[in-house]
Order: sequence, then structure tokens, then C-alpha cells
Amino acid sequence: MAGNYRSRVAGTGSYLPEKLLTNADLEKMVDTNDQWITERTGIQRRHLAADGEHTSDLALKAAQKALAEAGLTAQDLDLILVATVSGDQVMPSTACVLQSKLGCRHIMAFDLSAACSGFVYGLSVADQFIRTGMYKNILVVGAEVLHRFVNYKDRETCILFGDAAGAWVVTRANEGDSNIIMSSHLHADGSLGELFVLPAGGSAIPFSQQVLNDGSQYVRMKGREIFKHAVRTLTQCCHEALDANGCKPEQVDWLVPHQANARILDSVADHFQFPKEKVIMNLHETGNTSAASIPVAFDLAKQEGKIKRGQLILLAAFGAGLTSGSVLLRY
Ligand code: UT7
Repeated sequence: MAGNYRSRVAGTGSYLPEKLLTNADLEKMVDTNDQWITERTGIQRRHLAADGEHTSDLALKAAQKALAEAGLTAQDLDLILVATVSGDQVMPSTACVLQSKLGCRHIMAFDLSAACSGFVYGLSVADQFIRTGMYKNILVVGAEVLHRFVNYKDRETCILFGDAAGAWVVTRANEGDSNIIMSSHLHADGSLGELFVLPAGGSAIPFSQQVLNDGSQYVRMKGREIFKHAVRTLTQCCHEALDANGCKPEQVDWLVPHQANARILDSVADHFQFPKEKVIMNLHETGNTSAASIPVAFDLAKQEGKIKRGQLILLAAFGAGLTSGSVLLRY
């Protein structure tokens, strides 16, 4: 079975819930204002899942679009991988819920926890399964309903996050196909994990009245520290991807980075010496959607006619963990 196969992106899809939370809405909830949020983050609104709408529901909608574009059905899939830190529940995995909702065969399905780097981690895992010849058609989803883990009394975090899902169908490329995933590089620095945490709900701090009193069911972040690491790490990831492939920044058509903060992305473009107009940025519309951010940014840019087949695309991710990584692909 050991093969020498390569993977290609056969279809992409995304889904943003209808409900909007604007900066003006947030002004009524915490001590903040539209000007501060826009200038410091670039975010103007975020989409939030409706009551009763779960992470797997968002994932399902994005996945159906990606499958349709790939010209495949759920029956054709060999593996489902959902990158999320806000799954429907701790157990079973959101990937298993999605497998059932899609009506797949009894294929392998699992969740991957790498926060905002989750989608890039997921693509790399999918690429390995295709390269070995084990699987042909893999659904990689980044899906989050983060707003349920955000404290709307904490102005430093509640302005940032939104809900969304993005999905790619990755398939075995035909021999000689140049539209392939060229490389992936993944990293983590667990020693900096305390910079961005969701303390409760795991085995260390199970749910209790104390948890609710402390608000430790919500994300906590050292924003300024994260900011510095994000700029440095994303820049390193961009260089690593290009160096490994003998490419120069000017050969890259689009950089699709994790949509964390417009100032982070501007700073990465400066450090990477990359034109800002070739950095995909749509966080004004989405906010930070963690694992969904890269596939959603990619899909929206595709719909706008920016990203086209045959182009060289660099994905760069950074998130809690601290995790990071890159994927270079010829789309
Ligand atoms: O996927 C990775 C997830 N995390 C991130 O991407 C977060 C990365 N960090 C950031 O995006 C930024 O650090 C923030 C947007 C969170 C904060 O922006 P900043 O420019 O780093 O602000 P700061 O923390 O240095 O705070 C500056 C001031 C402070 O007031 P004082 O001490 O100068 O009086 C804050 O209290 O801004 C204040 N502030 C706010 N003011 C109005 C903090 N949040 C707000 C707010 N509205 N929402």
C-alpha cells in the first residue's frame, strides 16, 4: 500500500452563521467603542451561532459545499477530521457527529485540538494519509462556536471571537498534477500554554459551582504577549515554508494567515517583506474564528475572485498551545 502519492484541494466551502454581533452591539455590553476595536483589531462584526446551532451544524454546512464543489458525495469520503476547540461536547467527537449527519460509511473520524492552528495541522495529517496511499478522499474541517466560551464581561477577549466553519475536501492528485499540497510544517511550544487558556471543563478543573463563580469556563488570554509571539512565529512559519521549497516571497500569489488581528497581519507582512495587498484579510467581517479562520478566509477570497486555480498559496497559522504551522500549496 505504501505509495508516492500527493494531495490536492478538490473542493472548499465555508459557513458563517446569520446572527451578527457588531462593534456597536459590544459598546452596549462592555466598556469599549467601535473606534478602539476597529483601530486595534480591524474587526467590525462577528457572526454568532444561533441558540440550538452547534459546531457540527456549522461544520455540516461548510462540508456540504466543499463536497459539492469536489463533485463527491459523503459516501466517497475515507476520513473526517474536525479541527476545533469548541466542539459540540467533550465526547463523542464533533467529527463523529458530523460523520453521522453527513451519512458517511463507517469511516475514521476524529477531532484535532490545536486551537487556531487546527486547520493547518489537519491539512498536514490529511496529506500524510494520502501520501502513504492509505486514503483517497479526506474531509478536513475547521469549525468553532467560540462565543459560548467567551466572557462578555471581559472586553479584551469578547471583542475578538466569532463563530464559523470552513471545510476542504483533499483528494489524491493524479500523477503529474502540479496543483498539490507541496509542504507542511507544524510546531508547538507548550511552555507558553498559559498565555491563552480555557481553564475549566477538563479533568484538571471539572465543572463545579466554583468554576461558575470564577468564570473559568471562559477563555483567558494575555493579549499583548500573544500579539508579540504571533508576529514572530507567523513570520518564521512563512520563511520556513518558502525555504523548504526553494521559493521566494514574490512567487507567492496569496498569503492566507490565521485571522487574529489586522495589526498582527500587517506586522507579519512587514517582517516577511510581503505586499499587504497579497495578504488575505477578512476579519472585519468574521473576527477571530480560531480553527475556522484560514479555510473561511480562503473561501471568501475565492468567492471574491481573488484566489484562483493554479496560484501559489501560503497558509500560516498560530494559536493557543502555543501552536503554529504552515502549508504551501499550488491551488
Ligand atoms: O488566535 C490567537 C488569539 N489571540 C489573539 O490573537 C490576541 C492577540 N492580541 C491582540 O489582538 C491585542 O493584544 C488585543 C486586541 C487583545 C489588545 O490590543 P492591545 O493594543 O495589545 O491593547 P493593550 O492590551 O495594550 O491595552 C491598551 C489599552 C489598555 O488600557 P490602559 O491600560 O492603556 O489604560 C486596555 O485596558 O486598551 C485597553 N483595552 C480596551 N479599551 C477599549 C483593552 N481592551 C479594550 C477594549 N476597548 N475592548
